[in-house]
This record gives sequence, structure tokens and C-alpha cells, in this order.
Amino acid sequence: MSIPDGQTDAFGNRNSSHCIFPDRMKKIIVAIDGYSACGKSTTAKKVAEKLKYAYIDTGAMYRAVTLYFHQNYVTLTHPREIAEALQNIQIQFKHNPKTQKSETYLNGLNVEEEIRKMYISENVSEVSAVPEVRKALVAQQQKMGQKRGIVMDGRDIGTKVFPDAELKIFMNADMTVRAHRRQLELMQKGDLVDLDDIVANLKHRDLLDTTRKESPLVQSPDAYLLDTTYITVDEQIEFVVNLAISKMIEKEKNSNGHA
Ligand code: DC
Repeated sequence: MSIPDGQTDAFGNRNSSHCIFPDRMKKIIVAIDGYSACGKSTTAKKVAEKLKYAYIDTGAMYRAVTLYFHQNYVTLTHPREIAEALQNIQIQFKHNPKTQKSETYLNGLNVEEEIRKMYISENVSEVSAVPEVRKALVAQQQKMGQKRGIVMDGRDIGTKVFPDAELKIFMNADMTVRAHRRQLELMQKGDLVDLDDIVANLKHRDLLDTTRKESPLVQSPDAYLLDTTYITVDEQIEFVVNLAISKMIEKEKNSNGHA
């Protein structure tokens, strides 16, 4: 993480040899959970960049599985079909140097654009409620975070994937704000969707995500609540980065035998 001469970074550090550099400190896990379209991915991506951590968008993994099931006519009521399909799915994230973004690959094909489309959003909550799907993806996610130094966003990261994460954030925002943000996001990709349809989709997904049997979306008691209704993206990022730094310092102190 480089800071231009004489300037301060997001943590208020000056460019001097006395700065606290997160990349030299003990690595932690930052788990960001919450409702759809609250700014989880935008925040998580930037926080990872600032901490020089890996970023994993677990929603993209569930979306990729949904795309595969759609393309291969997998029936959600047939456990054998599901188990077979899961054996044939390989999900990877690759950095695109042109866009400077991490993109999702399904069995070697870039599906980043496809998985964000409405027909996937309309089916992903049903697919992600299937216990076999969750088991397979949670195992992969836990592997990805084995060495810590990761920012992961989703619905069950702080409760199921990494219950021992050093920092847990739970994000929420007003429904109208969430729907407007999602509409803008889709519009920027050339997808014009009616606001009412987006609200209906978000409500439907909230209901399924919070009431499913397997790892429902719930705020972990030790998670910090971040309501993004009235704050900017920069403020969201700063909130999480500052907490991450204090958790790293805490970890550093504990490993040095301080109280
Ligand atoms: O974050 P997103 O909107 O791209 O997520 C898509 C869906 O995937 C969401 O409706 C719920 C599901 N999901 C999940 O069940 N568990 C996760 N860890 C991440 C996403």
C-alpha cells in the first residue's frame, strides 16, 4: 500500500517509516454479510484493495451455480442430479488487468456479465437454499480463507463460513435506496429494469434468504451493524477499514503477549 509523499492514507497514516502498514501485520478475516444491494460487494472490494487482501464475492459463486443449473436443466427436487452437477462445476475468480476487477469463471468461461442478469437474480435464492449446494460452496470458501488475509461477502460468512472471523460486518439499507442502487447498476450494464420489479425481486430474495432452513441470513451477535441508507461509499469503506485496523492491532498485541 503506497501513500504519496506528505499525504495520509485511509487510516490517517502519513507516508513515513512509522506508519502502520496492514500488509506487515497479522492477517485477519473480514466477513461482510447483509441484504442484497446494500453495497456489500462495492465496500468489500475496496476494503480488500486497501488492506491488500484477497476479495471473494460468494454471491457470485451461488450465481455461477444457478447459471450452470439453468444451462443444464438441473431440477432442484432431484438430489442425485444436483450432486452430479456439483461435481462438474468449477468456479474461479481471475483478475482482469484491463478493468482492474476480479471476474467469475465457470468451468473456464468468463460468466461475470451473465450471472448479474435478472433471470439469474430471480432464481439464485432458490438454488442457494439447497443444502447440497451450500455444503459444497461453504467448503470451497473455507479453503479460500485458510491463510486468512481475506475479505469475503455474502449472507452466512460470519455465522457459518468463518464464525471465528476477527471482524464481522452486517450491512443493511432502506428498501427504496437499495432498489435505486440496483436499478442504476443494471442500467450501467445496459439492462433497463422497472423499479417495481426490482423491489419485488429484492423482497422475494430477502424473504427466502432470511427464512431458509440452511444458514439463513441473520446478523451474528458479534457483528457490527452498518446501515448504508444515508452514507456514501467512501464512508462505508472507511468504517470497515478503521475497524479492520483496530482488529489487526488487537491481534498483534495478543500475539505479543499483551493483555
Ligand atoms: O450477493 P448477491 O446478491 O450476488 O447474492 C446472490 C444470492 O446468493 C442471494 O440472493 C443469496 C445467495 N447467497 C447466499 O445464500 N449465501 C452467500 N454467502 C452469498 C449469497
